[in-house]
Amino acid sequence: MFSTQAVFWVQLCMSPLQLIYAAVRTLIDVICSQVHGASKLRSTRKGNSATDKLMQKKLTQPATTPSSVNYHFTRQCNYKCGFCFHTAKTSFVLPIEEAKRGLKLLKQSGMEKINFSGGEPFIHKSGEFLGKLVQYCKEDLQLPSVSIVSNGSMVREKWFKKYGEYLDILAISCDSFDEDTNQTIGRAQGTKSHLDNLSKVREWCREYKVAFKINSVINTFNVEEDMRDRITELNPVRWKVFQCLLIDGENAGEDSLREAERFVISEEQFQEFLERHSSISCLVPESNQKMRDSYLILDEYMRFLDCRQGRKDPSKSILDVGVQEAIQFSGFDEKMFLKRGGKYVWSKADMRLEW
Ligand SMILES: C[S@@+](CC[C@H](N)C(=O)[O-])C[C@H]1O[C@@H](n2cnc3c(N)ncnc32)[C@H](O)[C@@H]1O
Ligand code: SF4
Repeated sequence: MFSTQAVFWVQLCMSPLQLIYAAVRTLIDVICSQVHGASKLRSTRKGNSATDKLMQKKLTQPATTPSSVNYHFTRQCNYKCGFCFHTAKTSFVLPIEEAKRGLKLLKQSGMEKINFSGGEPFIHKSGEFLGKLVQYCKEDLQLPSVSIVSNGSMVREKWFKKYGEYLDILAISCDSFDEDTNQTIGRAQGTKSHLDNLSKVREWCREYKVAFKINSVINTFNVEEDMRDRITELNPVRWKVFQCLLIDGENAGEDSLREAERFVISEEQFQEFLERHSSISCLVPESNQKMRDSYLILDEYMRFLDCRQGRKDPSKSILDVGVQEAIQFSGFDEKMFLKRGGKYVWSKADMRLEW
């Protein structure tokens, strides 16, 4: 039999060993419970959530690449075109650092071409906001193509001097070579000549080596016009010819700021206009259907606008949910984009231009 003293000494020697043993057991238990707990959590999420199933489905779909994006960063404008489908419903413009953050996200998702539009893109901070974004996209993001669509009335030579080198293409909208027709359409500021501005900007594009493009909206008031001579004179790299489009909530229906029904032409009238101008090789026609689902449009909050239902339904902002989640709600049809010739030589470095 052991004496009380002997038992005391054995217990004293055992206790450090027991302590180590207990600590190791506890550690093993914690690890086991965590592994088990995590797998239990995983199996619950997998089995029960419909949202997760949807997300999983979306993640397994091939990602849409936003190779060419139109960023309408302002809705403000100095013109009053009666058919306008991007009207001044807000005066919001993102702070420039936020706009740059969004552009960087787009670049990381595969954007190669950015087009700045509006509203009138030269209106905000007298073109400085636009100039800084153009420079950022070319210099910092190294985008192959940076372009602008403008009405041309607020472009100044000093802007070309400062930012021209960062710009690939400048498109100026001109729907008629008759000043009265421009006045009727609202494509003018007061009585100032839209056509004088057009000629000035064309010359600056030559001087500062920016590719020059023209956009025309064919509507009731210009559908009979013959523009061949004037377009040939101006010699754009591309002449985009749009069939006037109605968008609910913008230029048609309730809550719209314009009523463009009186500008709308039929498919046949549009075809007749195209046939009359078929000798112009740089002409790119865009019917209503092509326009509705072949553009990636970002509004002033950097939300994609889905035009498939004949209105502009916004996604969440790419600044809040990222590009891949927002783009699922853009209504963008990559096939239609390619069909309408959306991918072309869009970098001035790759163009053989006669400046
Ligand atoms: C909304 S504007 C913004 C840029 C600039 N203010 C301008 O007019 O060029 C962009 C382009 O859309 C065209 N556009 C405007 N309303 C249209 C409509 N209802 N149908 C087809 N194109 C339209 C314009 O002529 C322009 O070429
Ligand atoms: S289409 Fe006319 S009204 Fe609309 S944003 Fe351009 S210039 Fe302004």
